[in-house]
Parts: sequence; structure tokens; C-alpha cells
Amino acid sequence: MRAVIFGASGLLGRSVLHAFGDVAVTGTGLSRTAGGLVRVDATSAAGVGRLLGRDGPDVVVNCVGERRPDVWAASPGDARGRNVEAARLIAEGAARCGARLLHLSSDYVFDGTAAPYRPGSLPNPLNAYGRWKLRAEQAVRAACPGAVILRLPVLYGPVQFAGETNLTEIARRLGAGGPVELDDVCVRYPTHVDEAAEVCRRLAGALVEGRRLGPVVHWSAEQGFTKYRMGVLIARRFGLSARIRAGATDAAGERPVDCRLDCQGLPEVLGPVRRRLFSEEFPPVVEPWLLARPAASREGA
Ligand SMILES: NC(=O)c1ccc[n+]([C@@H]2O[C@H](COP(=O)([O-])OP(=O)(O)OC[C@H]3O[C@@H](n4cnc5c(N)ncnc54)[C@H](OP(=O)(O)O)[C@@H]3O)[C@@H](O)[C@H]2O)c1
Repeated sequence: MRAVIFGASGLLGRSVLHAFGDVAVTGTGLSRTAGGLVRVDATSAAGVGRLLGRDGPDVVVNCVGERRPDVWAASPGDARGRNVEAARLIAEGAARCGARLLHLSSDYVFDGTAAPYRPGSLPNPLNAYGRWKLRAEQAVRAACPGAVILRLPVLYGPVQFAGETNLTEIARRLGAGGPVELDDVCVRYPTHVDEAAEVCRRLAGALVEGRRLGPVVHWSAEQGFTKYRMGVLIARRFGLSARIRAGATDAAGERPVDCRLDCQGLPEVLGPVRRRLFSEEFPPVVEPWLLARPAASREGA
């Protein structure tokens, strides 16, 4: 099997690249191309087409995206391009070269009022990111009808800068010692990137074997936490003295309150996937960032 992972320099893509270590794989990045990644701008049809033409993959995984709210606000056109145009071009490229496509999407396509959400539940995004992810899904289905779209909830795992995940950013703020107010309204289901990456690898294998999968599938951890609850867990585990206050929602009306995803049969299709409990996995992920200075953050770059 030959695979191309677009967005292999990102949080999920790094882990997906690792999970595909048993096959011939090419990973792409844009601003980060260390470790043998190929630089491809996925908003360029020529760039995407050149790589897929050269590699002739059996399967393509699209981990390209832009999910940082400060970037959507500062340059919405770019953020839309990274989420929607890139998805369309990669889907067109995969269809043209006869590759199967696994496209990554988000629980933010839902409005969070009627959890749990099944793959066939009606999307109703509340903010720009959710709308772009939904448009990307529509573009993928139009350009590459055999594609599988995998929706995931918020991810956590080893990061390159504190702002790369909500969890490590919370840890950095708590480590700084000041009073911290954290959203105690919106429930999230933080899922370890390595668990999500294993699901991607198995889905890719199933696609290449021609097994029947729905056009949209869901994967999610089962433990739900608000940001406040995550902060309390971190403070207790590391004996931090920071005062944490349970706050109102981060952006009233703009973020879904509870988008719990119903994985509906996917575990049976994929076979046993190693489930990682957030309450057990978070300490080594946050520990390096408890004393990190803001300068270690790439957020807003
Ligand atoms: N992280 C989460 O909590 C989460 C939750 C649910 C769904 N998802 C979805 O999962 C996917 C991966 O997310 P992630 O968290 O891994 O994102 P990420 O860490 O922000 O990484 C984004 C990736 O996209 C690449 N990229 C950005 N613009 C590009 C362009 N114009 N051309 C080519 N590559 C470009 C980046 O390359 P460089 O960094 O090298 O520039 C990077 O590899 C996205 O679709 C996201 O919506 C993520």
C-alpha cells in the first residue's frame, strides 16, 4: 500500500504519519517540513496534482486544516482556503489518480443541542470553523464520491507549542500561577491523537481492501470534561496553587455546548482499537508546559 498524508506536520498528521510507518508513505507540510516532509501548498491544484501524479498512492489522508480562532479572525480568507479549498483540491486529486480518500472533519459541524450525534445527524454549525468544515465535507463528497469523512472531537497529545491544543494551553496558564477562569459550560471529549491516528490507519486499510464503510464515520473518546474540569484535574495532579474559577462559556452562542459523537458500529468494523482514558493519559502531555513561558507558544504566528 502507498499512502500520502497531507498536513503531516500538524498535531494529528504527525501521529498519523507515525501510524502509517508500516507502509510506503509520503507526508506533506507547508511551513514545517523537517524530517523528510514534502512542501506542498494544498490550496494549489498544481502542487497537489504534481505530488499525487508522482506518488500514485492507493490512499490519501487529508489532515490539512486551520482551527485556531485567532487565525480565522485575522485572515478568514486564508483559513477558509485551508479548510475548504484544500479539501476540494485534494479530493479532486485523489479521484483523478484513483486513490481512496480519508478526509478529516470535526464535531463542530453540529450545534451541540441534541447530543449524541450519529454520522447521519443533521449538521448545523454555529461558527465559521464549523461552517468551513461542513463546506469541506460537501466539496469532498462532490469531488470524490467514494471518500470517507472521519469526524473527531477535540484532540490532545504531544505538542510542539503550548497553544497547539486547548489542554496544553490550559496547563501553561495554570503553570503561570495567576487566577484562571475556565469555561464550565461546554463539554468536550478529548481524544488522544494516537488513538485517532490508529483509527485513521485502520480506516485507510479498510478503504484499500474495498470494505464497506459509510460516507461519514465518527470516532470519540467517551469521557466528557469542560475546560474547568480539565484544569481542576491538572491542578490536583501536579499540586498547583493557581486559583481556578468555573466560568461562563468562552464565546456565548458561538461554540456548541455538547457535540458528543456516536461512533455507531465503527469499533466493530475496525476491530479492537486501544482506548486511551484522558484521566490517565493527560499528565505526561501537560507536564512539559506547566512551566513554559508564553514565548514557547506559536499561537497567533
Ligand atoms: N486538533 C483538533 O482538536 C481537531 C479536532 C477535530 C478535527 N480536527 C481536524 O483534523 C485535521 C487536522 O487537524 P490538526 O489539529 O492536526 O491541525 P494542525 O495541527 O493545525 O495542522 C494543520 C496542518 O495543515 C497544514 N496546512 C495548513 N495550511 C496548509 C496549506 N495551505 N497547504 C498545505 N498544508 C497546509 C499545516 O502545515 P504546516 O504546519 O507545515 O504549515 C499542518 O500540517 C483538520 O481537518 C482539523 O479540522 C482537529
